[in-house]
Amino acid sequence: MKIFTTKNEIAQYFTSKQGKIVGFVPTMGALHQGHISLIKQAQQNSDEVVCSIFVNPTQFNDPKDLEKYPRPIAADIAMLEQSGCDVLFNPTVSEIYDDNEKWHLDIGDLEHLLEGKFRPGHYQGVTQVVSKLFNIVKPDLAFFGQKDYQQFLVVSKMVDLLHMPVQMVMCPIQRETDGLAMSSRNIHLTPYDREHALILSKTLNWVKTNFDAGTIPAIKQQAEAMISNEPGIELEYFEIVNGKTLSTATVDTQNIVALVAVRAGKTRLIDNMLIGG
Ligand code: PAJ
Repeated sequence: MKIFTTKNEIAQYFTSKQGKIVGFVPTMGALHQGHISLIKQAQQNSDEVVCSIFVNPTQFNDPKDLEKYPRPIAADIAMLEQSGCDVLFNPTVSEIYDDNEKWHLDIGDLEHLLEGKFRPGHYQGVTQVVSKLFNIVKPDLAFFGQKDYQQFLVVSKMVDLLHMPVQMVMCPIQRETDGLAMSSRNIHLTPYDREHALILSKTLNWVKTNFDAGTIPAIKQQAEAMISNEPGIELEYFEIVNGKTLSTATVDTQNIVALVAVRAGKTRLIDNMLIGG
């Protein structure tokens, strides 16, 4: 695997790769099998797979979260080597940002709902960094996880608005055998938090199994109660929404998605499930 830290190295490498289909997997590192599943899907659809590891400061609304974000770069490189990834782009902050860079792309409601409400400014940081990474890597295909469902919609909207020549591909959520969605933040869970965090996938499965479009408000209420009654878990939101717009689902909505965010002890967790409709 080639490892590059500068934009110029990436540009130079790809001048000799004209005509190849480039698949791109942007990450913040602390890689797990969820990330690797994106690399695998990219490999099936591309000639060259680029993964980026960059802990993007502008998307952290909580400075403590940025500070404690795990950065096990040697283990990450070993995992990527083993996965057969072709290129790792691992830039410094100054390679990506000028001092005090403040621009912001307005993508409308999508950036203010759900995660946007609880993490003000988060999606401004995500669109900033992903647009820069797309400009550097110039991928044909970009692979994002369903795990961050709203992020996929936000980045897809940016690609549409800016007419970027990138095809967005959503990859399914990878879970531990007991149902917990894999996440770089799971290492912060105490055994107690870890046990009670299972209520997220349990509740999402319950909603999927018991879903009835005629009783969405009642199902949402029941799901909220299931999570709120779980010891050690503090509910931020549980919403049943239109999977394209994130507006509240009604009896006529197609592509319904249930999305949840909680705090398990000091760790913030999100999860979601496609319900259908
Ligand atoms: P990060 O949290 O490292 O996630 C990188 C990619 O892996 C995202 O597309 C995310 O949805 C996907 N992913 C995470 N957990 C997953 C799981 N359990 N199953 C499947 N895919 C999973 O998301 C980011 O980084 C950043 O916001 C980024 C897009 C890199 C911009 O900084």
